Amino acid sequence: MDCDIRELESSAVYKILTGSILPRPIAWVSTQDKLGVANLAPFSFFTVASLNPPVLAVSILRKPDGSEKDSLRNIRDTGEFVVNIANQPLAEAMNLSCGAYPAEVDEFDVAGLQKSRGQSVHAPGVAQAPVRFECVLHGSLDIGAGPGAGTLVLGEIRHLHVADQVYRQGHIDLDALQAIGKLAGDGYARVHDDFDLARP
Ligand SMILES: Cc1cc2nc3c(=O)[nH]c(=O)nc-3n(C[C@H](O)[C@H](O)[C@H](O)COP(=O)(O)O)c2cc1C
Repeated sequence: MDCDIRELESSAVYKILTGSILPRPIAWVSTQDKLGVANLAPFSFFTVASLNPPVLAVSILRKPDGSEKDSLRNIRDTGEFVVNIANQPLAEAMNLSCGAYPAEVDEFDVAGLQKSRGQSVHAPGVAQAPVRFECVLHGSLDIGAGPGAGTLVLGEIRHLHVADQVYRQGHIDLDALQAIGKLAGDGYARVHDDFDLARP
């Protein structure tokens, strides 16, 4: 198939993008609103944007009615968030946290998760997460308008937590981490069939 992307329905574009750009890492983003209500949601349009300073990039799309998701509103209002890394043991809780709950619902409670106190931000982290990155908002870029329009959020990491069980001799132990990645639809991948290639 070859086509001008403008001829495709946005649902077809979504299926092609999420079916070919994979597996995607999952930023499990915790925030809190101006009143202190915690929020938690997963986002797989996620990567590292810079090492110096260390910055993460997460893209949060507009809802079908064109409004902003709670995570984005909280990040704009407070200027901070935590990226928790969800692994296989936390997959079901991560999935529970993605429901379209009202803003006043705390997804930590919905998913039965404990909060860890932020060291450099007010937003709580997921206590059970093997890795947590506490971020302050470095900047954001609104892309488009209406349903599905993205806002690229850049978060500068101020504090990180890595559980001792997954950290060995200066490296994250892949087997201990039990990392998962997002595929298309309801699909997920486990990261265990890896291989090495030395760079030229
Ligand atoms: C694994 C996974 C990955 C997701 N990735 C994204 C994403 O990259 N961008 C996005 O806007 N929504 C994504 N979603 C949907 C959001 O998690 C969902 O809209 C959530 O309700 C947003 O919560 P909030 O309104 O509390 O911010 C994803 C959902 C799942 C389960």
